[in-house]
Amino acid sequence: MPVSMHSNESRSDALGAEHERLGRAVTALIADYARALDQTDICSKASPKDIEKLFDEPLPKTGTDAEAILEKFSRDVVPHAMNIPSPRYFGLFNPTPLPLAVWADALASALNQNGAVWRNSPSASIIEARLLRWLCELIGYGPESFGTLTSGGSEANLVALKCARDRAARDARDRGLRAAGASGNLVVYASEQCHYSFIKCADILGLGRDNLRKVATDELFHIRTDALREAIRRDLAEGHTPCCIAGAAGATSTGVVDPLDELADIAAEFGLWFHVDAAYGGGLAFSDKHSWRLRGIERADSVTIDPHKWMFVPFACGALLVRDGGRVLRDGFDITPEYLSDERGGEDVEYDFYRYGQLGTRRFNALKVWMALKHLGVRGYAEIIERQIELTHYLAGRLDELEHFERVGEVETALCCVRFLPPLVREAGVDAQDELQKALQQRVEQSGEAWFATTVLHGRRALRLNINSFLTEPRHVDDLVESLRRESAKLLDEREAL
Ligand SMILES: Cc1ncc(COP(=O)(O)O)c(C=O)c1O
Repeated sequence: MPVSMHSNESRSDALGAEHERLGRAVTALIADYARALDQTDICSKASPKDIEKLFDEPLPKTGTDAEAILEKFSRDVVPHAMNIPSPRYFGLFNPTPLPLAVWADALASALNQNGAVWRNSPSASIIEARLLRWLCELIGYGPESFGTLTSGGSEANLVALKCARDRAARDARDRGLRAAGASGNLVVYASEQCHYSFIKCADILGLGRDNLRKVATDELFHIRTDALREAIRRDLAEGHTPCCIAGAAGATSTGVVDPLDELADIAAEFGLWFHVDAAYGGGLAFSDKHSWRLRGIERADSVTIDPHKWMFVPFACGALLVRDGGRVLRDGFDITPEYLSDERGGEDVEYDFYRYGQLGTRRFNALKVWMALKHLGVRGYAEIIERQIELTHYLAGRLDELEHFERVGEVETALCCVRFLPPLVREAGVDAQDELQKALQQRVEQSGEAWFATTVLHGRRALRLNINSFLTEPRHVDDLVESLRRESAKLLDEREAL
């Protein structure tokens, strides 16, 4: 960057000019990318080796013009990016980001606030606190509740389980688990459909992976509360210390919501921490029509909700909300290093977010969520979410019309699961059936027309179709169904010819 040595002002001028020039170029790139989304293949056909070749360059000793680097971005990065923002992306909980939220991210980068301490992010920290208040209100928490933004649902679940652990074993934070003297093992309960982050949490918090009890689910993949009660009683009888029940509101594989009210009752009965992983399904809270599914969430001690899932902001932004307020998080995480001392006498400390969770330096992530929520309002979110759920029911209906397709579970959010089970493969056994689901997913992926994942439900593989994008319309759903019909028929012909 050309920088004058004469005055600071002219250095800033040069910075401003550079932003203007690059900003125009980047705006054009983003706008072109967005315009082409509907027509572009959903994913690249290149292998990791092919892409490695494109970036196999030595450490740059001299600089390159920004324009040339942006050109490289257009030429080699964009064509091999997964088109997650596409209306034809029916994959994991990855949304099309709202334009305002994308640009809010750029604004957050330009301000480069460090939200660890209030002094280094005065307006940003207050906005984060306001946003957390809004999210708490949304799920029905009272005025004393608080929380913290996180890098995503995994970190939010970790923060929640740390609070749960510390409540069950009060000295664990300072003296370690053994010294804390909890009886037997500390045990966490979640459904066998729980997100894998709970397994990592159990390990990181020193509980051990084996002490996450994965409780059986019913035929629609909700946690079975009779099995949960039985597991808790068994652990108590064996001398262990039940610590936490984690319910799912929008399970990763199925999108279904556990019976939260009943889980809250069981947690109260046994004196356990009750956490709700609403990383995805928290979005239901926006809709008067669908929020009933979350009944009981307001009784949870803590709730994970990910704005980077059903709130359409770019990665990465999760949130952990705590019913009894910031004190709970401060008890778990607060610390005062010499260089972050409390010089103002306490008022600002309330907004030092490094005291409320694991993160130190923190990006101004609240900005994109705050802007998005102000822009759409609760009603705007409700409209999109209701439309997506309706569209998922439409997809389910279309799949029901397809020969040899069998739906699995029910639609509770914007997620629908299905298996392709022609008689030939039905007779061939479970392994062949599983292989067929993977083969069909691969065929559609290679067509470039759509992308979705597969998952395992009650031990058997199924296709997992999720309406993620607010761009998705019925015609995209029709195209997806046509791809499934065509590719499954081809697969069947090939198998019959063997
Ligand atoms: C239900 C649920 N919880 C937690 C997570 C973890 O969230 P993240 O990937 O943001 O860490 C996911 C991710 O898909 C999820 O589906």
